Amino acid sequence: MALAAKPYLQRITALFGADVDWDSHPYSVPAVRALESIDFHADVTFFIGENGAGKSTVLEAIALALGFSMEGGTRSVRLNSAGAVAPLHQALRLAKSYKTPKDGYFFRAESFHNIATYMDEVGYLGSYGGRSLHAQSHGESFMAVLLNKFKGKGLYLLDEPEAALSPNRQLAALRVIHQLVQDQSQFIIATHSPILLAYPNAKILLFDGTGMSEVAYEDTEHYAITRDFLNHYPRRLEQLFAPD
Ligand SMILES: Nc1ncnc2c1ncn2[C@@H]1O[C@H](COP(=O)(O)OP(=O)(O)OP(=O)(O)O)[C@@H](O)[C@H]1O
Ligand SMILES: [Mg+2]
Repeated sequence: MALAAKPYLQRITALFGADVDWDSHPYSVPAVRALESIDFHADVTFFIGENGAGKSTVLEAIALALGFSMEGGTRSVRLNSAGAVAPLHQALRLAKSYKTPKDGYFFRAESFHNIATYMDEVGYLGSYGGRSLHAQSHGESFMAVLLNKFKGKGLYLLDEPEAALSPNRQLAALRVIHQLVQDQSQFIIATHSPILLAYPNAKILLFDGTGMSEVAYEDTEHYAITRDFLNHYPRRLEQLFAPD
């Protein structure tokens, strides 16, 4: 049997030194504290969990360990306006495929604005569809990245890509992700979107106060709460707004 090229990133293993201060950020985050290793899906791995559970912290450390900059973009972007580089990535050991991805992108909703400014400054519009990202709406500019910048055979790290997208565009994004997966791409995505999470056969890792665990789509709060709310919203609103 031929060796599979994917996943490009097979596993990360955390090797924390004896000098780690477990009371300080980022080691105090439960999901970081409990981090031993993560095995990635060849297609799509999702990070989910409450706000503050540590998804971005871990995704950013993986991105840095892979050679991306804090602010995101392709590996050639050298931009670090987000402040000091977190040391977590230095503790990560990466197990990679024999095959190197031909493409890569670290998308962060929170610093995408800075990437857009950087692209304008370096006059690099060609591969973003020929228009300044600032001349497009938030969602349009993200779709421009997805459609023009992701070339396939790539390793893509996305932090809350849904932040900019209408429900309809989230469906379009799912379709693009699927096409890229079929073209030998791998994704690691931190998300709160019950739509994106529906991607078939994905590995969903829940970050919580005890660490990280794998969950099935229909067992996620995202699925259960959204479904329950949409099916019963008049009643749920009544309950929500009832005086204590
Ligand atoms: N630079 C920092 N210094 C200290 N604490 C930080 C720093 N950055 C993040 N934190 C804390 O680390 C924890 C994890 O944050 P992180 O951004 O990884 O969460 P998240 O799971 O991505 O949440 P969200 O869903 O809101 O994006 C949070 O409690 C946050 O307040
Ligand atoms: Mg986050």
